[in-house]
Amino acid sequence: MDPISNPYSPGAGTPPPELAGRDDLREQVRVAIERVRRGLQSKSLLMVGLRGVGKTVLLDQMRDDAEAAGIHTLRIEAPESRSLPALLAPQLRQALLRLSRNEQAKDLSQRALRALAGFAKALKIKYHDIEVGLDLDPEPGLADNGDLEHDLQALLETVGAAAQKAGTALVMFIDELQYVEEPELAALITALHRCAQRRVPILLIGAGLPQLRGRMGAAKSYAERMFEFPEIGPLNEPSARLAIVKPASAQGVQISDEAVAQILVESKRYPYFLQEWGKHSWNTAGGSPIVLNDVKRASASAVAALDESFFRVRFDRLTPTEKKYLRAMADLGPGPHRSGDIAVRLNRVVTSLGPTRSQLIAKGMIWSPTHGDTAFTVPLFDEFMCRIMPGDDWQRAG
Ligand SMILES: Nc1ncnc2c1ncn2[C@@H]1O[C@H](COP(=O)(O)OP(=O)(O)OP(=O)(O)O)[C@@H](O)[C@H]1O
Ligand SMILES: [Mg+2]
Repeated sequence: MDPISNPYSPGAGTPPPELAGRDDLREQVRVAIERVRRGLQSKSLLMVGLRGVGKTVLLDQMRDDAEAAGIHTLRIEAPESRSLPALLAPQLRQALLRLSRNEQAKDLSQRALRALAGFAKALKIKYHDIEVGLDLDPEPGLADNGDLEHDLQALLETVGAAAQKAGTALVMFIDELQYVEEPELAALITALHRCAQRRVPILLIGAGLPQLRGRMGAAKSYAERMFEFPEIGPLNEPSARLAIVKPASAQGVQISDEAVAQILVESKRYPYFLQEWGKHSWNTAGGSPIVLNDVKRASASAVAALDESFFRVRFDRLTPTEKKYLRAMADLGPGPHRSGDIAVRLNRVVTSLGPTRSQLIAKGMIWSPTHGDTAFTVPLFDEFMCRIMPGDDWQRAG
């Protein structure tokens, strides 16, 4: 069928035509935000899940929901290289400039802008990458100690006070939180803890790979009690079906039950893969309805497309040693695997593989579900590794 009208949208952070199966979580977040706005106790929430399960699009949707309800928001994505203060500062500034337009909150917003100026100046020594326009002079003694843990807490409290005065809340939406360095995570946790204790209307809605939970706990031992960590995973059957059927029927295109069932099996109901199979099935089919045979014929091109984009971008960032490690894991199956078993597969002792394993965790390729276990963060990556490094040549390489 006509690819121009193809509704499916595989991609990173690309909104799906139908955001299926996430209503409960959206509602949970809406309630948490409304409560914090009213000065009631509420927990920040960090969504954890593998690559391509839909964390980013959900985070963006939640942000839109919040903005529509008059909540002030900021949105950042933590890359592997920039510091959290450098990412936060310009976003906080913009939020404060918006808040200062509110007559009631004007004075407190200005005070918060002073806090931001002190914060940026004092921390610039340690975090060189902080760059933010300064609208007002610092207020001596306000968020300007030069110690992130202390200053972030003071800054967020002043920001929260301004938001409170305006009858709103400030919600920080942060994606890829697992890449934030541990001391910066610790400072963020402390600041949020303080805000919660004082009923200051500031909340964090974050997303990250499954290792995020452990990283938060390592940064501050009480973090695991302080936050909700909802797991985002494959869609359940009715939702996966909806994600496929609804976008097509909106265009008057039907899909047979067997065809839908086949897509659900092949994609294992992972959101990214559902979009890819939906897209290729649509393009392959001659017309409505899309039938089983169309899906079967589309599978090869769906897999090829995944190999070229979703999997490939990750593979290309790996060193030869890292590739070999992951290939050995793939040889053992989908996982999780014991570190000892991976070492045996590589004819090495476990300890000598420690550095490679750590690099792979830092890159967000693998994680450790329980001590000594290793799992892929990319669904179906084991099958991809066997396709891209077939045979057993890899055992001799490197
Ligand atoms: N609930 C959903 N229903 C249908 N499709 C979805 C859903 N959530 C996400 N998708 C689709 O899945 C793909 C991946 O989504 P997204 O980029 O948000 O995943 P992610 O978890 O952030 O991945 P990564 O960890 O790689 O950043 C997108 O093409 C998106 O349209
Ligand atoms: Mg994402």
